[in-house]
Amino acid sequence: MKLSSIITAAAVLMLSAFGAEAENSRVINIRTEKSSLVFSVNPDGMLVCDHYGAAIGDASSFSLRKNYIRGDHGTPYAAYPAMGGRSFGEPALAVTHRNGDLNTELKYVSHTTETLQDNNISETTISLADSIQGLETDLVFTAYWKQNIITAHTVIRNREKGDITLRSFYSSALPIKAEKYLLTHLYGAWAREAQVDRTVLTHGTKSIESRKGVRTTHTESPAFMVSLDTDRFDENNGDVIAGALAWSGNFKLNFEVDEFNILTILAGANPYASEYRLKKGESFTTPEMIWTFSAEGAGGASRNLHRWARDYWMHSGSGTVPSLLNSWEGAYFNFDAKTLTDMIDDAASMGLEMFVLDDGWFGNKYPRNNDKAGLGDWDVNKEKLPEGIDYLASYAHEKGLRFGIWIEPEMVNPKSETAEKHPDWIVKGASYETTLIRNQWLLDMSLPAVQDFVFNVFDRTMSLSDKIDYIKWDANRHVENAGSNGLPDDRQSEFWIRYVQGFYNVMERIRKKYPDVMVQACASGGGRVEYGALKYFDEFWTSDNTEALSRTKIQYGTSLFFPANVIGSHVSAVPNHQTGNITPLKFRFDIACSGRLGMELQPKHMTDDEKAFARKAIESYKGYRDIIMNGDLWRIGSPYDDCGYYGMMYVSEDKSKAVLFTYSIKYQSRTVIPQFRLRGLDPERSYHFKEINVDKPRFWFDGKTLPGDLLEAKGVNIPLRGIYESAVFIIEAE
Ligand code: DGJ
Repeated sequence: MKLSSIITAAAVLMLSAFGAEAENSRVINIRTEKSSLVFSVNPDGMLVCDHYGAAIGDASSFSLRKNYIRGDHGTPYAAYPAMGGRSFGEPALAVTHRNGDLNTELKYVSHTTETLQDNNISETTISLADSIQGLETDLVFTAYWKQNIITAHTVIRNREKGDITLRSFYSSALPIKAEKYLLTHLYGAWAREAQVDRTVLTHGTKSIESRKGVRTTHTESPAFMVSLDTDRFDENNGDVIAGALAWSGNFKLNFEVDEFNILTILAGANPYASEYRLKKGESFTTPEMIWTFSAEGAGGASRNLHRWARDYWMHSGSGTVPSLLNSWEGAYFNFDAKTLTDMIDDAASMGLEMFVLDDGWFGNKYPRNNDKAGLGDWDVNKEKLPEGIDYLASYAHEKGLRFGIWIEPEMVNPKSETAEKHPDWIVKGASYETTLIRNQWLLDMSLPAVQDFVFNVFDRTMSLSDKIDYIKWDANRHVENAGSNGLPDDRQSEFWIRYVQGFYNVMERIRKKYPDVMVQACASGGGRVEYGALKYFDEFWTSDNTEALSRTKIQYGTSLFFPANVIGSHVSAVPNHQTGNITPLKFRFDIACSGRLGMELQPKHMTDDEKAFARKAIESYKGYRDIIMNGDLWRIGSPYDDCGYYGMMYVSEDKSKAVLFTYSIKYQSRTVIPQFRLRGLDPERSYHFKEINVDKPRFWFDGKTLPGDLLEAKGVNIPLRGIYESAVFIIEAE
């Protein structure tokens, strides 16, 4: 990046007559518009973290501040705690030095701050070193002023006389002090992703981690919020710190509350079974940790993350988001070209903008007619599709639709030519047989040959037609019996890190060659919903569970950390294929339209009335989706609330337009009239309401104009009385 200015705050700490004084006055205030992350150097030369929270203009008095903690009680507040000396907590860094010493003592060396190109970003690098061992670390913080985001990663350099082993290498550490800490995080399973868990942190340690690799976010997520000084989750009020790790492999978040009631959060690649050798002169760069602070409750933290993700992180933040029909639940493996062109016709007639051909189009020696064979052999199945992919893509384009296609390049069925040819490419420990998950094995992305293969799968698929606009990248298993043929016996533990490095290497190559193709990250649904993947992908397939009621929680949980323009959200058939539940078509649309709208069913099984409804809903979606994709999300309650109703609003940046979604997910009885206080509007302006996806006006305020302050203070009452009732409104400033 081009630098507009460089401020070197300190080169090397000078030990002069004023040495101690200079050390004490070393305060580093990393600022965004509404937050400060403050570090200072203590009298021992150690870097401590003094504050992460509301913005502080002049933080210099932190140099005077005493923490009244006896030295032999440990070293809380360490900015990057290393194992050794008087550090007793979980270490961010643990190293076996070349002489076998397990202790590390990091001292402040220098820091620099650079203001980057657009003046919205500043990058601060704080260098620490263990001068006795010859180990150096750079803590690198990138602050995004307007978005109130600070990202952090660490570079660890081996300047010792020989090899060292990293045993823990977290990206970032954050010590904070509050009266109470309410942790909000996500848990789940296949088809039940992104469920919200809340717990007040007590003394001791809570960790959230993945040890499965590849599909790392089904059961846990590397994203969380901590509400400070409260045990109540509040959408709109109070101090909240949110964090999200950008890493597509095993991760660990460690929350440790010590005897001083200080909470230290560590976030990074999971040290579990992952010792990593650093040769003399080599360095290791950790994944990026994303932090945000909000004084406006959880909603403020989400909006900070959403804006930043769109503006700076995700592959194409403001790109087009075509509504689509995906073939999976409508056709599964059973199709020929006519099945697909009929689906394309139906998709076009309903106004959808893209058709995605899912699994089942490839494999000849072992045709992919079910999930038992063919995975890994990426040539078009001649029996099923003698016309080829270009025929289908051209057909879609002629009908005005874009065309997408499914791949799962990291995996193979044992029954595939690729697996037969390359048994050494399979992830496998030395002594045991590898296990099957969904009848498939995992290719070892740490191997350069596999990286080439995976790149080529993408590349060759793209070459099947020049009209491929979208790739759905699936990954339907995780790691078991970990091990790599490419690593020596005493470095097998590096597999976990090297797999992810290999994956990123391939994604870099793909994005270089195909910057504009839309790519969806799917891993049996929401198995790869994290910021590491989002750097390369445009969309997540949030869950294989397409049922609308289940989706209320899955999409709500995802929205805590990710913007709507990455939340793939499809209308499917009833009874739902996963849950058997039957919900009205309007409810299914009203849920799916709050994210990236798609359909995933066989349209020929829809009635004419259903198609007519779909056509109308899709048309109206196209009219307001820009507000969803680029506006701010304001949640009104949640699907977890006992009342059984909740809402959400997306508001354009200039507050001139909004869309309000309201849902009832339980029978309310006759006396309960849900009330929704609107958020995010301008209290000084008045707003006109129009309900959509209905034939005629249903509520008193439809077609009326109401003042913004009234809408915020009082809101509107919407008698959604039955389960699965919903109402969606377009709101426009006069
Ligand atoms: C799992 C995905 O999540 C589904 O959407 C579908 O693509 C299947 N795999 C295909 O095998």
